[in-house]
Amino acid sequence: MTIKAIIFDAYGTLYDVQSVARATEDAFPGRGEYITQVWRLKQLEYTWLRSVMGRYQDFRAVTRESLQYTLGTLGVEVDPAVFDGIVDAYNTLSPYPEAEQALAALSRYRLAILSNGSPDMLDALVRNSGFDSYLEAVISIDANRAYKPDPRAYELVQERLGVLPEEVLFVSSNGFDVAGAKSFGFKVARIERVSPDALRRELAGGAPIGPATMFRALRMQTEALGYVPDVVVGSLLELPGLIETLGW
Ligand code: LAC
Repeated sequence: MTIKAIIFDAYGTLYDVQSVARATEDAFPGRGEYITQVWRLKQLEYTWLRSVMGRYQDFRAVTRESLQYTLGTLGVEVDPAVFDGIVDAYNTLSPYPEAEQALAALSRYRLAILSNGSPDMLDALVRNSGFDSYLEAVISIDANRAYKPDPRAYELVQERLGVLPEEVLFVSSNGFDVAGAKSFGFKVARIERVSPDALRRELAGGAPIGPATMFRALRMQTEALGYVPDVVVGSLLELPGLIETLGW
């Protein structure tokens, strides 16, 4: 057995960021989908912009700034309590339906999260979903003040768990995170929540392309950066069998 730890990305991999749509649609009926997609696109973009600018702020701040930007594009005024309520939706994201069963099936490995989320956001999320009992560690990149895909973010796994990169299976559905983790030296499994074929079918024909489709095209495919995952699976539940088949 070469793998000692399985490290999960949080947002989009164990937890469905699209589940904020309930809060955005309640606050802005008819514009929930637009807000949900632009907000998430901008949230990650701001992590990268702040990194390049050398102006780190934690993910709670970035999540607020990106929501402010998004609502600004609509030109709407929002009550501060409503704004806070939408941001708080990140503390109660729905886990993907198979996530808990997959964590339970992998319990013979050391399991942890490595996420951009700030420690307070991740603590709330993991506690609210009850996943704390499965995880040895919930590692926030905040400890090194460097967002994924900066190698300093991935280095935290060795710092916290004492495992070498080649002893780690990193699991993510986010294209940029898959590329970053592979470039860093982890074994990487990509959870393919939207297959290239499914996306092509969505894009075929002349129908208008909505914000959710744009999101799936921009953030849910394999990036063409030259760092591809070792394996691609459609569900977290495929991981235990796959690890065994590959002799990892
Ligand atoms: C995270 C981002 C990648 O959880 O969604 O780190």
